[in-house]
Amino acid sequence: MRTRSTIHAILLTSTLVACGSKTETGSAGSAAGSVGSAKPMPVMPKASEGPLPSMPALELAADDKRDAKVTLGHALFFDKRLSGKADRACYSCHQNEDGNGGHDPLAIGSGDKVLTRHAPVIWNVGYWKNALYWDGRAKDLVANAKGAWGGGNMGGGDDAALEKKAAELAAIAGYKPMFEAAFGKTEIKAQHVEEALAEYERTLVCKDTAYDKFAGGDKAALSEPQKKGLDLFMGKAACNTCHAPPFFSTAMGVEGGIYFNIGIGTKGVEEAKVDVGRMKISNNPDEWAAFKPPSLRNVTKSAPYFHDGSVAKLEDAVRLMAGGGIDNKAKSGALVNRQLSDAEIADLIAFLGAIECGGKLDEPKLP
Ligand code: HEC
Ligand code: HEC
Repeated sequence: MRTRSTIHAILLTSTLVACGSKTETGSAGSAAGSVGSAKPMPVMPKASEGPLPSMPALELAADDKRDAKVTLGHALFFDKRLSGKADRACYSCHQNEDGNGGHDPLAIGSGDKVLTRHAPVIWNVGYWKNALYWDGRAKDLVANAKGAWGGGNMGGGDDAALEKKAAELAAIAGYKPMFEAAFGKTEIKAQHVEEALAEYERTLVCKDTAYDKFAGGDKAALSEPQKKGLDLFMGKAACNTCHAPPFFSTAMGVEGGIYFNIGIGTKGVEEAKVDVGRMKISNNPDEWAAFKPPSLRNVTKSAPYFHDGSVAKLEDAVRLMAGGGIDNKAKSGALVNRQLSDAEIADLIAFLGAIECGGKLDEPKLP
């Protein structure tokens, strides 16, 4: 799997490089400028002039019950009866008005327990490969749904409690036929609930933004500031190192994900109390306080920002990133102060508006 995904990532990159060299100009952000000293320096093309990657289709295994699973998962996602105290639905923390991310800086779980992290945007979650959550600890959407349901988010409890809850849900008159349509006549287990949730989440695809239209050839889809912002994003500001299109997270689609320490949550915190992020999963000290770069699709709507929700405004988040993050003992070398002017920051923000998702999660009628 690792090799296939890596190859996929390399292919995406080399498409850019190859297309860039076709126009004899090299490719922005790539090291394609290995031109002999006799030749003139290549003029770096603007990203906005070159080919740009489009969203690939989400590959799904054939399943004639998929639609029934999606319908069921859609209802379950919005249903507070899943949670331990019937006080949280998945949707409670992944709402439209917050860009499908969380509203509170740190999520507040069932029983009003303040959790340790901020709820991320869940558009395009079906594309993560063995890298769900800020630290990539869940291998797939089913494992993620189990974690969200059983853990502090929903307070569903241990395996036995989830089995009991699944049986209760399946016994609700309106749900009964929905479970049957999705899974046939079988005893309903927690796994079925998690699979249905996962199937619904795979439908949360955001691929029709202004950027996508532009990448697809509609050159009027981006405004002038947005085009400038795109060029900065892919050039001087080098955001694409970690937030590469089309996903706007370089970690998305890559088996196991990729993690960077940019310093969030390290400043003024006693070292023993720092959320060590990926290091807890990998045991690799180089990954101390490293987190997954989130996709920036819909970031304009998903304040507050970062894994600890510590930055309230998009402009401040962008300034922090463009300014080189927060210094600490393990900060990624890929993040440096890009010395952007206020006008350039404004253009970058304008561009982020071009990757705003149009869709929303429709509230279903609960059974
Ligand atoms: C109390 C708020 C809350 C509720 C309720 C909640 N979540 Fe989340 N969700 C979070 C937080 C916080 C994270 C990040 C946790 C982490 O990374 O450790 C998260 C992460 C996720 C992710 C991972 C996204 C990514 O980029 O890796 C998915 C998918 C997700 N939740 C789906 C669900 C589903 C499905 C449910 C219902 C079963 C649910 N959530 C319920 C707060 C919540
Ligand atoms: C070295 C890799 C790296 C580079 C370069 C980088 N980012 Fe990030 N970015 C991350 C990581 C990792 C996070 C999440 C960190 C965390 O929460 O601890 C993040 C988070 C963000 C967020 C918050 C998103 C959210 O949903 O909470 C924004 C906004 C953002 N980056 C914008 C940018 C912009 C704009 C640039 C270019 C100026 C940039 N980033 C460059 C790695 C990077």
